[in-house]
Amino acid sequence: PRCMPTSTSIHPILDQAPTTESFRKATLRGFRKDQKQIPSKFLYDDRGSKLFDKICELEEYYPTRTEIGIMRENVSAMAEAIGPAARLVEYGSGSSLKTRILLEQMREDLAAYVPVDISKSHLLESAEALAEDYPAVPIQPVCADYTTSFELPEPPRSARRTVGYYPGSTIGNFPRDQARAFLEQIAHTVGPEGGLLIGVDLKKNVDVMTAAYDDAEGVTAAFSKNLLRRMNRELDATFDLDAFEHQVLWNEERGCVESHLRSTTAQSVTVADESFAFDAGETIHTEDSHKYTLDGFASLAADTGFEVESVWTDDRSYFSVQYCTTRSDSA
Ligand code: AVJ
Repeated sequence: PRCMPTSTSIHPILDQAPTTESFRKATLRGFRKDQKQIPSKFLYDDRGSKLFDKICELEEYYPTRTEIGIMRENVSAMAEAIGPAARLVEYGSGSSLKTRILLEQMREDLAAYVPVDISKSHLLESAEALAEDYPAVPIQPVCADYTTSFELPEPPRSARRTVGYYPGSTIGNFPRDQARAFLEQIAHTVGPEGGLLIGVDLKKNVDVMTAAYDDAEGVTAAFSKNLLRRMNRELDATFDLDAFEHQVLWNEERGCVESHLRSTTAQSVTVADESFAFDAGETIHTEDSHKYTLDGFASLAADTGFEVESVWTDDRSYFSVQYCTTRSDSA
């Protein structure tokens, strides 16, 4: 059993949590489009974050296991690239499982660890567990939607550089132009001579990629349907969870796996006092998972303030972890 953290390494949370109102607005805007859609960040409420942790353990979901293997094998080179006294800012920290590999290696070498996550209770739970295991690392949790502009806390001791950490290939949730804009935002945050350690999932056999999002146990289906539950609970929606099914397809042109919730019958649903009609077979687009080639990501990064400095991958080249740096003259 865990005891209460005795260290003072955990700082008070910087709370910039998104409101129910932002969920309502985004949902209504997305539902008025021809292709109904909801931004995928809303998948991660407390229940969704827990279901996502279960996804990471699925046989079909190769990214987590592969990325962890790459991290373990190359963590000393990664620590060396990051250098001493860095402030590590993780975008979408969730349970911070992969971060533990870095913390284990770097410990008091780090000036601070700043986990940023949209789910407050999930963030606090993992920050407390980390504070207990790594008392030498000041932890400064920030609850925020990192896709919007948010504030970072003052570093607790002088940091030599700021390094973003963005594992999991979550960059894949963005279409290419938004991915570019987001990398630019990170480049701006880390500043000149900053860094970014990022996980990027690679293009491979289509069946391998789609199976990762359509597991036999139905955990990913439950994760996706959790959005309907969340709308029922937070937006007074009237979704019948049995009248929708999880659907996954590879979009070759866009280079991404698309996830949808497909209405199995013609039906009408109320969301926040507004009525929406669904044809039989009509879908709500819930998520994109874009896949990259190494060249494709390098050229995307080069369009921003970053340059890819090192690439680590597994022996099947399923996944990559890449260290990017900003130039010393970048803004
Ligand atoms: C957290 C965005 C990286 O796209 O692979 C996993 C989310 N969705 N299974 C991904 C996800 C369904 C995941 N990312």
